[in-house]
Amino acid sequence: MPNPSLLILPGDGIGPEVMAEVRKVIAWFSDHRDVAFEVAEDLVGGAAYDKHGTPLADATMARAQKADAVLLGAVGGPKYDKLDFAVKPERGLLRLRKEMDLFANLRPAQCFEALADFSSLKRDIVSGLDIMIVRELTSGVYFGEPRGIADDNEGGRVGTNTHRYTTEEIRRVARSAFELARKRDNRVCSMEKSNVMEAGILWREEVQWVHDEEYPDVELTHMLADSGAMQLVRRPKQFDVIVTDNLFGDLLSDAAAMLTGSLGMLPSASLGAPMENGRPKALYEPVHGSAPDIAGQGKANPIACILSFAMALRYSFDLGDEATLLKGAVEAVLAQGLRTPDLLGEEGRDAVTTSEMGDAIVAALGAG
Ligand code: NAI
Ligand code: MG
Repeated sequence: MPNPSLLILPGDGIGPEVMAEVRKVIAWFSDHRDVAFEVAEDLVGGAAYDKHGTPLADATMARAQKADAVLLGAVGGPKYDKLDFAVKPERGLLRLRKEMDLFANLRPAQCFEALADFSSLKRDIVSGLDIMIVRELTSGVYFGEPRGIADDNEGGRVGTNTHRYTTEEIRRVARSAFELARKRDNRVCSMEKSNVMEAGILWREEVQWVHDEEYPDVELTHMLADSGAMQLVRRPKQFDVIVTDNLFGDLLSDAAAMLTGSLGMLPSASLGAPMENGRPKALYEPVHGSAPDIAGQGKANPIACILSFAMALRYSFDLGDEATLLKGAVEAVLAQGLRTPDLLGEEGRDAVTTSEMGDAIVAALGAG
């Protein structure tokens, strides 16, 4: 197979700052491990608008379609707030997600030991936590037709959204979840509301079908989503992979992410259908935005973006050992007490800069 290709889109604000640290990590892996990535870089968001008058040039879109994985920083900023909707920086990101048909959104919730006291939950509830929520991203109630606000002809109005899923939409996201589980602890919990929603009954039946036909080796359980929400805050470590629809996944993934703390620590991935080489189409990005309030000051935490690259190692390139090594380096640096300002809270200790954090992680890799 040819070298794996990686398209880097740093974007705006702190995007280029955190991506510079990821590049150091990529360089380390190229130098010390047998993983020679073909790395290309291009523009997205406001940066692309400034150069091309569009937040995502067609040529960039074409490169993204061909890349084995796309790694994105963040887009947007006050400079672009007054632009027309069609050319706003966010449109660049939405175009990527739509044209790559990224239907599975992966949001991990993992606890770093040194930050366990940062959680809003008790230490022993989150200590060692490592779960993954897979949210269906391109269908369900956010997209279903009919939708809209209309007169009800009795002097009032009626708002309509349609929660609709097809067999194939459910099966493909279920497959993504089972594939991930095989690279993790081999367990999937599917969540819906089959007690009150027909689309939930179909969801449960189809996830079960994919399991029985294609992934009988993976442990599958089902849970009603409201009960799942309770279990997630009560005993989150019982889960490995959770798969759920767009609406429930939106809420559950945000709640789960906050079990472990700062926005500067949260990676994500969005996956699509497998390409010819068997790898899924994939976009990796930190959950945070361009953070204009701290951009250009060396205050951004690069860990969310570095962990997004760790996800790419595991889920696009089957480099699970390398991903574990990188996570271990992050863990080690945090254990040494290094903190960017977002991880210091009220403590007021000395903070390290974005590049000092990146350098320390690379140094920890070297030792690992
Ligand atoms: P934001 O995530 O950029 O910032 C929220 C708060 O968290 C800010 O106080 C920021 O300083 C802090 N923060 C975020 N990432 C951090 C990091 N890595 N290290 C340390 N602190 C960090 O969200 P906000 O302020 O709502 O949006 C700012 C801009 O980003 C807007 O233009 C928005 O449209 C865009 N945005 C882009 C996203 C993307 O590219 N995926 C996602 C969310 C927002
Ligand atoms: Mg949300």
